[in-house]
Amino acid sequence: MPDATSDVWTPWMRRALQLAGLAEGRTSPNPMVGALVLDHAGKLVGEGFHAKSGDPHAEVKALSQAGSKAVGGTLVVSLEPCCHQGRTPPCTEAILASGIAKVVIALQDPDPRVRGEGITRLRDAGLEVVLGVLEKEAAYQNRAFIFRVCHGRPWGILKWAMSLDGRIALPNGASKWISSSGAREWVHQLRAQCDAVIVGGGTVRSDNPLLTSRGISDPEPLRVVLTKSLDLPDDARLWDTSLANTLVAHGWDVDQSKFPAGPDRLVLDSVSPLALSQALSKKNCNCVLWECGPALATAAIKQKCIQEISVVVAPKLLGGVSAQTPLSNLGFSSIEDVLMLQNESFQKLGPDWVFNMISSLD
Ligand SMILES: NC(=O)c1ccc[n+]([C@@H]2O[C@H](COP(=O)([O-])OP(=O)(O)OC[C@H]3O[C@@H](n4cnc5c(N)ncnc54)[C@H](OP(=O)(O)O)[C@@H]3O)[C@@H](O)[C@H]2O)c1
Ligand SMILES: [Zn+2]
Repeated sequence: MPDATSDVWTPWMRRALQLAGLAEGRTSPNPMVGALVLDHAGKLVGEGFHAKSGDPHAEVKALSQAGSKAVGGTLVVSLEPCCHQGRTPPCTEAILASGIAKVVIALQDPDPRVRGEGITRLRDAGLEVVLGVLEKEAAYQNRAFIFRVCHGRPWGILKWAMSLDGRIALPNGASKWISSSGAREWVHQLRAQCDAVIVGGGTVRSDNPLLTSRGISDPEPLRVVLTKSLDLPDDARLWDTSLANTLVAHGWDVDQSKFPAGPDRLVLDSVSPLALSQALSKKNCNCVLWECGPALATAAIKQKCIQEISVVVAPKLLGGVSAQTPLSNLGFSSIEDVLMLQNESFQKLGPDWVFNMISSLD
């Protein structure tokens, strides 16, 4: 009898993960899930993925495509089927009704409403369940969802672009453009995979950024400005919400009359990266992209709001002791104490390099 370590299921699970990934950036607050159905003879008879919150779950889509061919067959799914009534009925009941004999699952759902209960329901009903096929890959694909469910705040990606000598601007502040057009297009794709893009007031004042995915993602990710002072320009590009929504987050102790026309308002008890992260989690964000300057980036790292770091390195030398670097003081006094990162991947984009690192899972 093939189990989770058997190669029999690996290619099918790889296909389920591929299907799940088709909705990357669009399923929040839900996970990405892909599923397929093999008939009793092992022939593919149905496929599906969860496209967005409120839409049918992947299992239900694959089963409805399979119809009566599912009887005695196998369901391969990248996440444990749900067993609770949410915006859609529980998938476990649809599986039982379909006549499926075996369910192959990559990963247990960490959502407290499921967390093994889906598997128990299927096993109690007499179905064979194989758990753990491509588990690591499935957990990586849904790392943002898993992190939010376990920690109550979104997975944070910090991105910056710098010269080979680690500068993000010239001593006079000029910074457009350090990276190539290819790397900037890659940033648009990265934004499309996230639910929100965050900057501090400093970046709005100096760069007047647009922060959209340039139409790759529909709807565009929410654009968020964190400010203590509300000293923001009257006419920033972010205030035009015809392309994407903008949220300006500030505290109670500011002159509210300075609030610009256009964006929505979020008032925080404490103007901190952590308070903002927690508020964005409640607004259904699984994954947020921090595109801020050194002041806010450093505060976000210190408050454990950054789990992944993406750095574009351009083959340019900017020089200048007074030129800005990506981070300000993290407060370390010994090399033994510094933040250690794991290199996940790197790629070359035109003349630039992009390094992707996992910084912390907690
Ligand atoms: N190369 C790159 O990838 C890149 C990316 C972004 C920015 N930059 C550069 O970075 C420079 C701007 O740097 P910056 O550090 O001023 O930008 P920033 O980090 O985006 O903004 C700093 C501002 O964030 C707000 N903030 C709210 N809570 C905070 C907290 N707890 N800690 C720190 N800040 C908090 C404050 O806004 P208020 O002052 O409004 O209260 C603060 O002044 C510009 O030169 C820009 O070009 C470069
Ligand atoms: Zn479900």
